Amino acid sequence: MKREYVNIALPKGRLGQKVYRAFEEAGYAAPGVMEETRQLLFENEEKGVCFFWVKASDVAIYVERGAADIGVVGKDILLETGANVYELLDMQLGACRMMVAAPEGFRDNTEQTLKVATSFPNIARRYYHQKSRDIDIIRLNGSIELAPLLGLADVIVDLVETGNTLKANGLEPREEIVSVSARLIANKASFKFKSDSIRAITEALSENLRDTILK
Ligand code: PRP
Repeated sequence: MKREYVNIALPKGRLGQKVYRAFEEAGYAAPGVMEETRQLLFENEEKGVCFFWVKASDVAIYVERGAADIGVVGKDILLETGANVYELLDMQLGACRMMVAAPEGFRDNTEQTLKVATSFPNIARRYYHQKSRDIDIIRLNGSIELAPLLGLADVIVDLVETGNTLKANGLEPREEIVSVSARLIANKASFKFKSDSIRAITEALSENLRDTILK
């Protein structure tokens, strides 16, 4: 890893491709980033940036530990991990909502502990704690919508974008916990020592975002 470069962690997957396009439109591109290759680091010497792809849920760890100076990650992951990083910009990509959803017609019996299936145990715990509701968290890594269907949980806490997955599984959105989108984050020390470069990138992304919205 080159120290003089700004190292940028991009989240793998569909969101990551949109995120990289935003960097490209803002004038920060590097050859090969979007190609299938065994190469792992993609540099643009002139711009002084070096991109790499990591699992979306790992971006905050790379940035918090300084392996990446900046990165892009969903607000859901920031809230869940409580990563100690600066949040520089709402990229307004990947917009969705963290919601409580339940089987159609479900009525919460407050005399009983509520069984909540989720991959976001900290977000769910905080939300129900604030409502003083006793819950039992069932932590799953995917296909959360299955849990109420099979009697594993009463409700779920999960991301909802179109609502199609809920509908297809006989579930309905009940309560919105927080709205979520992709955020540009920075390592705290990097933000101090590479301040000019990081500010320039943030400004360029922000301007590009304004232009996109005005189009
Ligand atoms: C996410 C989320 C929901 C779904 C919501 O899952 O966990 O299942 O998208 O989208 P919708 O409201 O547009 O239907 P993802 O596809 O990321 O996979 P996952 O099951 O591994 O979480």
